[in-house]
Amino acid sequence: MWCFSMEFIHIGDILSGDYEGKTVHLRGWVHRIRKQKKMVFVLLRDPTGVVQTVIKPTAVGEKTYADAQRMLIESLVIMTGIVKADSRAVGGFEVQVNEMNVLHFAEEFPITENQSVEFLNDNRHLWIRSRKMTNVLRVRDEVFRAAREYLRNSGFFETTCPMFVSTMGEEGAELFEVEYFGKKVYLTQTSQMHLEPQLFALERVFILAPSFRAEKSRTRKHLTEFWHLEVEEAWCDHDCNIKRQEELISHICKSVAENRPKELKELGVDRECLLSIEPKFDRMTYSEAIEYCQSRGLKIEWGEDIRTEAERVLTDQRDNFLVIEYYPKEIKSFYMKHNENDPRTYKNNDVLAPHGFGEIIGGSERETDAQRLIDNLIRIGDDPEKYKWYIDIRRYGSVQHSGFGVGVDRLITWILKLDHIRDCIPFPRTVSRIYP
Ligand code: 4AD
Ligand code: MG
Repeated sequence: MWCFSMEFIHIGDILSGDYEGKTVHLRGWVHRIRKQKKMVFVLLRDPTGVVQTVIKPTAVGEKTYADAQRMLIESLVIMTGIVKADSRAVGGFEVQVNEMNVLHFAEEFPITENQSVEFLNDNRHLWIRSRKMTNVLRVRDEVFRAAREYLRNSGFFETTCPMFVSTMGEEGAELFEVEYFGKKVYLTQTSQMHLEPQLFALERVFILAPSFRAEKSRTRKHLTEFWHLEVEEAWCDHDCNIKRQEELISHICKSVAENRPKELKELGVDRECLLSIEPKFDRMTYSEAIEYCQSRGLKIEWGEDIRTEAERVLTDQRDNFLVIEYYPKEIKSFYMKHNENDPRTYKNNDVLAPHGFGEIIGGSERETDAQRLIDNLIRIGDDPEKYKWYIDIRRYGSVQHSGFGVGVDRLITWILKLDHIRDCIPFPRTVSRIYP
């Protein structure tokens, strides 16, 4: 008799070899099915892997065998069978089924081999269960877990910030406006400004939440809604901030390599490369970066932003992450700390991922002086009155602090060497994609 109190194991447990010769209960979806006259081969899938099973009428009886002959891929089944080592089967094991129940006969699955990217994106709700996406999502989960693990172990508190905001955090052109009871507000571009006040209560804080940018750029690295890991730390200067970024990224890369080796292998990702990411990144000033780009033949002048092509040139011959520090004030945000050693610049930094990938982190020491913040806002033609609350936190025990934001989706895209950032997230949001 079938019942849900039965002890099911996962397919990954079989593939680990511990169940050879034993009878097991499995539940999952039909990944592939090959029907012959005297037997049906089913590749059964669950979140942990795929295993070959074989169903014969002599073992399961005529009625169940008829069900096996009738079912299509993605049907939901529970099975009982004996595990046998079999070098011809994927993963090296086969389950010889002696009982099977089809819990749901699937309709004909729309996704077949060799379909266009557009078709797969339209059917994202179904494509998610593919082996590729399952592996990607398992790595994504590990990135989130490892990030939280590192920060908690380093004394940070996880907190939350509003997604509806009345002031902009980064560039104005990329704001999503929302109608809010007759008033115009925005979807947040960064949680930084609501994170900073919280460090006066908690000293070390982080948030893992979406940020929204009306990015018209249709690149492989831009989402309109992306997951942003933002960190703020009191009693922390520019160098302390960079050290924090190095340790965090290195911890995430090593954790993925150590805890998701099977997924990396199936996705064709080099694990050694991730294990080699030490918390000591290459480092260059913005001025040095511009000179380097010029030496590689790029038309770029001091004062211009480092965009995709320059990022590629700066990172294509590297295996390590690259910190670029002290960008000019004109191309960065008003809240960054004045750099007394070179007043044209702020004490800020970006982190670029190697192999031509480019920016994954933006960060800075924060300006602690209320008047300087006001002057910065006036210089860029903004109204300090709108930022009163933000400037206020510099009036009551203003503390040296720094912070940064990691583009989590970009980091995952780099880790997995994916062609496009949309492949690292369950339901991507881009200029041209809001369905499903
Ligand atoms: O460099 P950004 O704009 O910095 C900030 O928002 C700061 N307020 C963060 C902070 O200091 N708390 O964004 C940070 C990172 C970028 O380096 C990039 O990795 C990612 O967020 N990012 C995007 N990722 C995907 N799609 C987009 N459209 C992104 N825009 C930024
Ligand atoms: Mg940036």
